[in-house]
This record gives sequence, structure tokens and C-alpha cells, in this order.
Amino acid sequence: MSLQLNFIADDGTRQIVEAAPGKSAMWAAVQAGLEGIAADCGGTMTCATCHVRVPAEWAGRLPAPTADEHAMLEMTAARREAGSRLSCQLIMTPELHGLVLRLPPTQY
Ligand code: FES
Repeated sequence: MSLQLNFIADDGTRQIVEAAPGKSAMWAAVQAGLEGIAADCGGTMTCATCHVRVPAEWAGRLPAPTADEHAMLEMTAARREAGSRLSCQLIMTPELHGLVLRLPPTQY
């Protein structure tokens, strides 16, 4: 089963990416060659270059960030916002089909 993710760039451009259940949103972005997700650490939660901002209507449907994710979110290049998450920690499930993730202006 393939799920869809909507990435919205800082300029408002929308890109739809296919995602696989059980894999992270970051993984889907990297597989698709999406600009705006660097993911330098490959998902080991040590780089904070997979920063995304989750709109309020989706944020409550995601598992809460762990303490480690909270700590890394303090290291993002672009300002952390209420909906900020690390996309390597967002594991896709069927309930997240259509998830919208906004890209920050920069990851560095
Ligand atoms: S890919 Fe490095 S923290 Fe998410």
C-alpha cells in the first residue's frame, strides 16, 4: 500500500511524495529526491536537517515527540514553531495518508 505525503515548500509549492507504511516521512522525501529535506544523519536523530512544520489540523494526529526529539528540535536552523517535528521520527501509517508537512526556508 502506498501513502501520499504533501510537502509544501516555503514558497508555497506543493509536492506530493509516495510514502511506505512503516517508513518515515524523511525516508519518503529522500527517496523522491525532494529538495528541502537534507537528512544528513540518515535518520539517527543527530542532525536536525529533516525539520518540518506540521499544520495544526495534522499535529494532533501524530504521536508526541520524544524527549530526544524535543532536544534536537532546539538545534534546527530555521526557527522552531509549535508544529515543528523531525520528519525522520514521523513513521507513516495508513491514518497519515495525505499528511501535510511544511518545509522550513532552510535546513542549515
Ligand atoms: S534525519 Fe537527521 S535528525 Fe532526522
